[in-house]
Amino acid sequence: CTPGGPASSSPTATVPAGWQPPAAPMAFPAGFVWGAATSAFQVEGSTTADGRGPSIWDTFAATPGRIHDGSTGDPAADHYRLWESDLDLIADLGLAAYRFSVAWSRIQPTGSGDVNQAGVDFYRRLVDGLLARGIHPAITLYHWDLPQALQDAGGWAVRETADRFGEYAAVMFDALRDVDATWLTINEPKTTAYVGHRWGGHAPGIADEDQAAAAVHHQLLAHGRAVEAFRASGAAGGIGIALNLLPVYPTSPDAAAATVRTDAVENRMFLDPVLLGRYPSDALGREPGQLPADTGAFQDLVLDGDLDVISAPLDVLAVQYYGVAGVDDAGNQVGLYPTSAATWQQVHPEGLFDLLIDLLIDYPDAPPLVITENGIPDRTPEGTTDDQERLEFLRAHLQQAARAIEDGVDLVSYYAWSLLDNFEWAEGMSQRWGLVHVDYETQERTPKASMEWYSTVVRANAVPP
Ligand code: NOJ
Repeated sequence: CTPGGPASSSPTATVPAGWQPPAAPMAFPAGFVWGAATSAFQVEGSTTADGRGPSIWDTFAATPGRIHDGSTGDPAADHYRLWESDLDLIADLGLAAYRFSVAWSRIQPTGSGDVNQAGVDFYRRLVDGLLARGIHPAITLYHWDLPQALQDAGGWAVRETADRFGEYAAVMFDALRDVDATWLTINEPKTTAYVGHRWGGHAPGIADEDQAAAAVHHQLLAHGRAVEAFRASGAAGGIGIALNLLPVYPTSPDAAAATVRTDAVENRMFLDPVLLGRYPSDALGREPGQLPADTGAFQDLVLDGDLDVISAPLDVLAVQYYGVAGVDDAGNQVGLYPTSAATWQQVHPEGLFDLLIDLLIDYPDAPPLVITENGIPDRTPEGTTDDQERLEFLRAHLQQAARAIEDGVDLVSYYAWSLLDNFEWAEGMSQRWGLVHVDYETQERTPKASMEWYSTVVRANAVPP
């Protein structure tokens, strides 16, 4: 998820494809949980209903030139009004779990203080509707829609936002304390930090390396504050963070050092503090591949005790996998594999296997893994329901997931991105990532071929060859 990042050049190397899938279906462990995911701003619409306050994505989408097709968060997939039939759809498709996010500004319209009960009630109805259908809720607390009032006070560049997040999280744990949910604190802190604060391609549209580094720390601190609040609340269920990880491969022997630093920026900058309680020493600086932020200024932000908060034990580690990158000797991310219709996405299913095995080796004490996102956009902008490319993408990635499980990875669930076509951030409504097609004129839902296929996988708990 790095639109706006360094441009990819043409492929410079190829890695031999080694592994061949078996001729028989690959079974998943009993109890493996299958789902699909969305996020609030991308599907809900109704951006002023029932007391919801404005978020940074309302502001960003209203700014001319920011969204490719000029669309906004309204009506998106109109899920705020159609939630009940959407839950019926999820049940009909046989999914065991649904991942959605809570719009913070429905709960606290200005990001702090009084709770807007109508907002809480919406998510309570949604969760009760899931439970009534036997569907497990996976609830993301922050999927990029920061209340605008908090941005006006400095946003993720300032420490106070982490404290406000902890308070908001506590409200939600209290409201849903009886629910056996999988809670995810922050979705892709990397994308918010780098795309939102380094390159400015996402809200809040800032291009400043030091603010990007600050946004990393304050989001991770916010994650830790939420975990603290979760444990204090005694709420049922478990909690984790959703990290988008990017296997990187050198494109020449000379690129080895830059690739290690790129791995620090892309992966270890998030994994190490959360799982090991320390930041990597090689992520920030002026060497090829590093994030060129002021190291001393960053260290000053990290107060005593912060890393203990950030590294509090988790129940799950959520991984979002979209693809890989090649790295050249100048530290640029370059093309190594063909891209999907999203130019930033180099598709390489074996990268998922590499990633899961690397986690097993490098972080042996990590909690069980869940894949909370994986998918591609339709090749045609208008969308199609005969999406063979997505079907084959899912098949290949699920085979690699099954292969990793066979090799000892403790992967317990998988959520396809996305349940529905929706608002794809800076691409607006022009890029469709759904396994279910949405007709934006009528809001009619039609499962695509990939979803019909995915339903059979879910029901069989196995991926066919
Ligand atoms: C990751 C983000 O979490 C999600 O919101 C987005 O739609 C997908 N990537 C696809 O870009």
